[in-house]
Amino acid sequence: MARAKKTELPRVDERLQSIGIIMDGNGRWAKRRLLPRSAGHVAGAKAIQPILEDLRKIGIHHVTLYAFSTENWKRPEEEVTGLMELIYKYLDEVVIPKIRADENFCMRFLGDKARLPEKLRNKCIEVEEMAGEREFVCNLALNYGGRDEIIHAVNEAIKDGCSPITEEDISRRMYTSHSPDPDLIIRTAGELRVSNFLIWQGAYSELFVTDTLWPDFSRADIIAAIEAFYKRKRRFGGLDKEE
Ligand code: FPP
Repeated sequence: MARAKKTELPRVDERLQSIGIIMDGNGRWAKRRLLPRSAGHVAGAKAIQPILEDLRKIGIHHVTLYAFSTENWKRPEEEVTGLMELIYKYLDEVVIPKIRADENFCMRFLGDKARLPEKLRNKCIEVEEMAGEREFVCNLALNYGGRDEIIHAVNEAIKDGCSPITEEDISRRMYTSHSPDPDLIIRTAGELRVSNFLIWQGAYSELFVTDTLWPDFSRADIIAAIEAFYKRKRRFGGLDKEE
C-alpha cells in the first residue's frame, strides 16, 4: 500500500530563513500529457503562489525563484515570447493584487532588466516600487545568471574604487544584497546541477533535488525538503566540535 503523503507543515527556525528554487520540468510535465511546452509553463506559473504561501507559513522569509536565465534566450523565439507574456500576466494578475492585499509580501527582481521587453520591464519596476522591504521577500530571477551577476558586481566595485576588492565588496553589490544567502536550494525535475543559479550566494547552501516536476511540486515536497535540510550537518568548511 502506498504511504500517505505528509501534509502537516513543519516550522523552521533561524537556521533556515532563505530558500532558492530552480523550477525545472515544465516541458517534461507537458510532454507527458501530450501538451505543448507552453501548457507546462502555464501550469508552472500556477504552482508558484501556493508554494510561496506555504513557505511563508512555515517561517521562511526569503525565497528566490529562478524564472528565466541569461541562457534561456537561446530557446525558440515563440517559447521566449510566451514566457515573457506569462510572467507579465503573473505580475499583473497575481503579484500586484497580492502586494495590495498583504502588507507582509513584496517582490524584488534579480538580473539585468534592460534586456526584458519594455512592457515587462515597466511592470517589474511598478512591482518593486509598490513595496519596500517587507517581512516576506520573493526574489524573482529574470534574465538572471550567476556569472553575469558576479561580473556586474566586480565592475561596480571597480567603479567605486574598491582596491583590493573584498568578499564584502562583492556581496554588497549583488542583486541579492537585501536577502541572506540561501540556506537551502531546491531543484525540481531531477537534474544534479546548479545551472548558473546563485553561484556566489549558494557557496554553502544545502542542495535538495527532487524528481517531482515543477508544476507538480506540492506541500509534500516542501516537507521532504525541510526534513532533509534538518538532517544535514552544516560546517561551512570547518569541523564539528567532536571531530
Ligand atoms: C523550465 O522548465 C522552467 C523555466 C524556464 C523557468 C520557470 C518558469 C515558470 C515556472 C513559468 C513561468 C514563471 C513565472 C514567474 C510566472 P523546462 O522548460 O526547462 O522544463 P524541461 O526541462 O522539462 O524541458
